Parts: sequence; C-alpha cells; structure tokens
Amino acid sequence: MSKTMLDIVKKQDLLVVEDLHMIYKSGKIESPALRGVSFRVKAGEFVAIMGRSGCGKSTLLHIIGGLLTPSSGKVLIDGENIAKIRDRERTEIRRTKIGFIFQRFNLLPTLTARDNIELAARLRKNGHFDLGAAHELLRLLGLRDKMHHKPSELSGGEQQRVALARAVISHPALLLADEPTGNLDSVNAKMVLQMLKELNSRYNQTILMITHDHEAAGYANRIIEMRDGQLVERVQNNTLAMAFHMASASSQRSFCSMA
Ligand SMILES: Nc1ncnc2c1ncn2[C@@H]1O[C@H](COP(=O)(O)OP(=O)(O)O)[C@@H](O)[C@H]1O
Ligand SMILES: [Mg+2]
Repeated sequence: MSKTMLDIVKKQDLLVVEDLHMIYKSGKIESPALRGVSFRVKAGEFVAIMGRSGCGKSTLLHIIGGLLTPSSGKVLIDGENIAKIRDRERTEIRRTKIGFIFQRFNLLPTLTARDNIELAARLRKNGHFDLGAAHELLRLLGLRDKMHHKPSELSGGEQQRVALARAVISHPALLLADEPTGNLDSVNAKMVLQMLKELNSRYNQTILMITHDHEAAGYANRIIEMRDGQLVERVQNNTLAMAFHMASASSQRSFCSMA
C-alpha cells in the first residue's frame, strides 16, 4: 500500500487509543484498572467491548469520553488528544463530538422526554434546537406519544430510548454506550440494541458500546475482548468470523465424508 493510501486509511480513524494506563490511587493503595490498552475505531463502525465485571470497561469508556484523566497514554478523537488537553477544551470536545448513554439512563427527573432532549440539544448546539429533527428522531425511536411524559411515567426501555435520543440529537461523531441494556428486560434490551444498529446502519453513527452480554455484543460489527485491564482478543467482523467458522466446519465435514 502506498504511503498516501495509508494516510487516507489513518484519517478514517475517528478514535485512536494508544497504550492507555489507569491506576486508581487511594492513600497508599494503587489499583491498576487499565494496563496498556490500544485500539482504533473507524468512522461508521459499531464496536463492542466485552469483558467481565471489574475488567476496566467503564474506566476505559469514561477516559474516552473525557470524564476521567488516564495515568498515561493517548486518546485521539478526530485527531485531538483528549487525554492531554485542559478541562475546558475537553468539555468542549465532549459537548460537540461525544454522546453518552449509561446503564442508569440519567435523565433529568423533573423534565419531560421532549424537554430532556431539547435541553441537551440547546446545550450542545449553542442554543439551537431543530424541532423537526427531534420529532423525526422520537418517531424513529417509537416515542412520539410519550413526548410529554416525565421519566417516572416511562418504562425502563422508554427511558433508555429517550436517553438515546438525547445523546444523538446533536449528531455526535462518537456515541459511547456503557452497558446500555444492563437495566432492561430482554424485550426492551433487544429494542434498544436494534435502534443502535439502525442508527449505525441508516445514519452511519459511530458507536462504541461496552457490555458483558454476548447477545448485546452480537449487534456490533466488531467485538474487542477485555480481560484484567488489557485487550486479549479481537474479532474483526462477526459475519466474517461466522463465515470462517462455518467454512471450516463444512470443510471438516466434507473431509470426514471423504475419509
Ligand atoms: N474510583 C475508583 N477508585 C478505585 N478503584 C476503582 C474506581 N473505579 C473502578 N475501580 C476499580 O477498577 C477496576 C475496573 O473497574 P471498572 O472500570 O468499573 O470495570 P467494569 O466496568 O469492567 O466493571 C475494578 O477493580 C474497580 O474496582
Ligand atoms: Mg462498568
């Protein structure tokens, strides 16, 4: 591949994480949560990071989202190293480039669904709010008739869909999801995952989702596995991995039938 081609490929990396370390310190006790994590996400990808509870997933996501400063390492979002810059600039990148959804929805309890979404849009887009786009999004997420409900009047699945609308209303370059289905029953979990998939395939929304659930991770186009603060395995593409698995199974079968 020529150098220019390589440069073009590199430019498509929306997120670059390089040799990230995080050590939590309380008094004299040091607990390492990330031990040299490196990976890249291209614009338009839907990537899942899987791993058991306590392996460092939330720490990683919070650093990428600019909510936590790492002990060392690089996090480039659209070419900017957010691990290095000052708080004000980091807040600005978070505001303009990143959308978040969490396990616990985190909606403002006194505001209706629509007002939660409108507030987020206005905060992120210097006061601008596109009502038409908000309605379109609420329709896509099956929330048109829930617009005037407060979070306490919504089911868990509906609350997470409002949180999703709030996260993507301002078109963030990167959507970060921390166990988005962790508090949902299986029907609602499936619905939220299908909506994430739809946002990715229809609107090319780049998504980085962490989960400990294999089924949830299966909605992504790439799965990265994490263990004890390190990445241990990469599956480049579910479909490719499945095709490879099926091809090797069938070649084994034909080999057996020949024998
Ligand atoms: N604020 C903190 N102070 C000290 N240790 C922490 C803190 N947050 C997380 N940890 C520890 O870091 C490790 C990784 O935690 P976390 O990133 O929350 O994992 P996960 O999201 O995969 O469950 C765990 O051992 C956890 O106890
Ligand atoms: Mg976690």
